[in-house]
Amino acid sequence: MKFGTIGAGAVALAFGREALARGHEVVLSSRRGPDALGDEVAELGRGASAASVEEAASLDYVLLAVPWRNVESALKSLPAWNGRVLIDATNPFVETSPKLVLADLGGKGASEVVAALAPGARIVKAFNSIVTARFNEGPVKNGGRRVIFVSGDHPEPTAFIKELIESFGFTAVDLGGLATGGRLQQAGGPLAGRDLVEFGHH
Ligand SMILES: NC(=O)c1ccc[n+]([C@@H]2O[C@H](COP(=O)([O-])OP(=O)(O)OC[C@H]3O[C@@H](n4cnc5c(N)ncnc54)[C@H](OP(=O)(O)O)[C@@H]3O)[C@@H](O)[C@H]2O)c1
Repeated sequence: MKFGTIGAGAVALAFGREALARGHEVVLSSRRGPDALGDEVAELGRGASAASVEEAASLDYVLLAVPWRNVESALKSLPAWNGRVLIDATNPFVETSPKLVLADLGGKGASEVVAALAPGARIVKAFNSIVTARFNEGPVKNGGRRVIFVSGDHPEPTAFIKELIESFGFTAVDLGGLATGGRLQQAGGPLAGRDLVEFGHH
């Protein structure tokens, strides 16, 4: 698969590294444009490239990995989604420094907010619940497998992302649809940010 990323920071690079190691391709994009991403492309190595946000977002599977406050601008004026898949790795923080401040979503799920900004996209929420530093330590901890959650309303792309997570070596747990599963794993939800490990599955 050729994955696009919107955002080329910690989360996109961690995802990209694992996807490339499994033989996929990764097209990074960020606000500053492709020419500013030379270091990131070099860091990821073979199979990585950079493009405009519009180009990266025109691929069949696109990772959204920008700060919450920039989600709306990042998703504005992109090509029509037409059922292409948006993997939502964002967390709804209005501030992350010096402390984490959750956005007031008025009771909506974070991925439901994202879905409204990307009409026609099939949204799969994944990779948001695990802290990147833990993800980068690798899937195995104390002989068990770290857990990454996945939620979505469309069985086929949800299953694809679940398999991708398993191919990275993590245990993927499908929490069900965006409205319920998404809420469980989003920042502020009961499963967010926990370093959960499964024993005895593989
Ligand atoms: N860090 C974690 O532990 C963690 C774990 C899971 C999920 N998350 C979530 O994942 C998302 C990304 O986090 P991160 O840690 O990767 O952030 P980051 O390292 O700060 O990177 C953010 C990236 O987004 C790009 N960006 C910002 N506005 C954009 C726009 N309008 N269009 C295109 N690209 C834009 C930035 O590019 P420019 O430099 O060009 O602006 C940068 O490459 C956040 O929602 C975060 O809450 C974080």
